[in-house]
Amino acid sequence: MAKSQDTIASIDLGTHRCCCVIAEVCSPDSIEVLGIGSHRTNGIRKGVIVNLEALVSSIRQTIQEAETMASRKIEAVLASVPAAQARSFTSRGVVTISSRDRIVSRKDLQRVLDTVRAVQIPAGQEILHVLPQEYTLDGQTGIQDPVGMTGSRLEASVHVVTAPTQAAQHVVSALNTAQVDVVSLVYPELAAAEAVLSPEELDQGVFLIDCGGGTTDLALFERGALWFTGSLPIAGGLITNDISIVLRTPVPDAEQLKRRHARSVPCPDDDVPLEVPSVGGGPPRVIAQGLLTQIVAPRVQEIFEVSRELIERFGLAKRARAGAVLVGGSANLEGILETAEEKLGMPVRQGVPRGVAGLIEDVCAPSFATPVGLALWELRRGRRERKRGRRVASPLTRVGGGFRRRWRRATSWFGETF
Ligand SMILES: Nc1ncnc2c1ncn2[C@@H]1O[C@H](COP(=O)(O)OP(=O)(O)OP(=O)(O)O)[C@@H](O)[C@H]1O
Ligand SMILES: [Mg+2]
Repeated sequence: MAKSQDTIASIDLGTHRCCCVIAEVCSPDSIEVLGIGSHRTNGIRKGVIVNLEALVSSIRQTIQEAETMASRKIEAVLASVPAAQARSFTSRGVVTISSRDRIVSRKDLQRVLDTVRAVQIPAGQEILHVLPQEYTLDGQTGIQDPVGMTGSRLEASVHVVTAPTQAAQHVVSALNTAQVDVVSLVYPELAAAEAVLSPEELDQGVFLIDCGGGTTDLALFERGALWFTGSLPIAGGLITNDISIVLRTPVPDAEQLKRRHARSVPCPDDDVPLEVPSVGGGPPRVIAQGLLTQIVAPRVQEIFEVSRELIERFGLAKRARAGAVLVGGSANLEGILETAEEKLGMPVRQGVPRGVAGLIEDVCAPSFATPVGLALWELRRGRRERKRGRRVASPLTRVGGGFRRRWRRATSWFGETF
């Protein structure tokens, strides 16, 4: 039996699905997935927790499923905060290099990032992450790692991700009630980026677009850092609703039709007949496949038209030289990559987790980007913290004795850096 410190557990609390991953650390940079749990979420609507009790029950079932598959119990998890609730902004911090030789040390990096953490943030928000973008040393801009360089004024440009205190508390309460502690709360697209983006994409500039059930969330990564986050309240759930309303079929049947037959682009076999169950148990009707495409296509187009508007509003279109990577369950929809490419005007690929061993067939799906990414995020925490001058006891998850205590003590878990 492996030591509990060798185990990392994560949970992604999505609008549509709760998804838990239990993984074992194989080496400083690799994990083996031992168990997964995936359950329909009750209690979250468009990224907002609306029923804590229902959510706790979904969490319990999800974790139990993963524990059974992994044959081990978990005591603490890394959890995502709903991306729809997160906010982010770019900020700057400045310090003077006071050592006699004026050589920048890792401690100086920590000091300059700490000054950013002291910035005023809107009431009711908490800092989740302080993510360095680049440094400026005595006016020289664009420095990625100034340690060892000489200068007297060190400036850091950082991206700060915040979440409403209440939303974070609700996530923690739900997990604590389900008998697990929380190791960290993580912005989901940071986690997904760990799992699906290549170092080249991260460097050249790429949009990570997470099209889930309730929201479509966007994050821009460039030169290895996060520069922008945004969230739109349109995603797969609306596609299912459209099918349900237009075809007057129950939502679960609309969901099945979508998964099995829907496409966002026309196809030669658009006249293939499909059977559609009726609301209220009436006799099923037969429609042509093409009608389903006509229902689905406008909504999918809308998702990427609105995404494009958001990208253009912030003048970011030219920043993503590597295009976009689509994750989330809706990335499975047939034709969605073509529609996304056409509407966004950039190459788009599907993102699936890589760099993991174990249940590869199960987790090699775009909807597993965030839960697998959370585990990778924790695995690489030590490396990130050492880079910015923090001492780390273990690169592994602090399983057990975790968050319930820390939450009361202070918000020490907020403000981790990239
Ligand atoms: N094969 C498929 N074809 C089309 N849509 C699919 C397929 N599989 C899953 N989906 C859709 O993906 C959505 C769920 O995706 P995901 O699990 O990423 O959402 P979530 O994380 O729970 O939601 P959110 O991130 O919006 O809070 C649902 O709308 C579901 O219908
Ligand atoms: Mg999601």
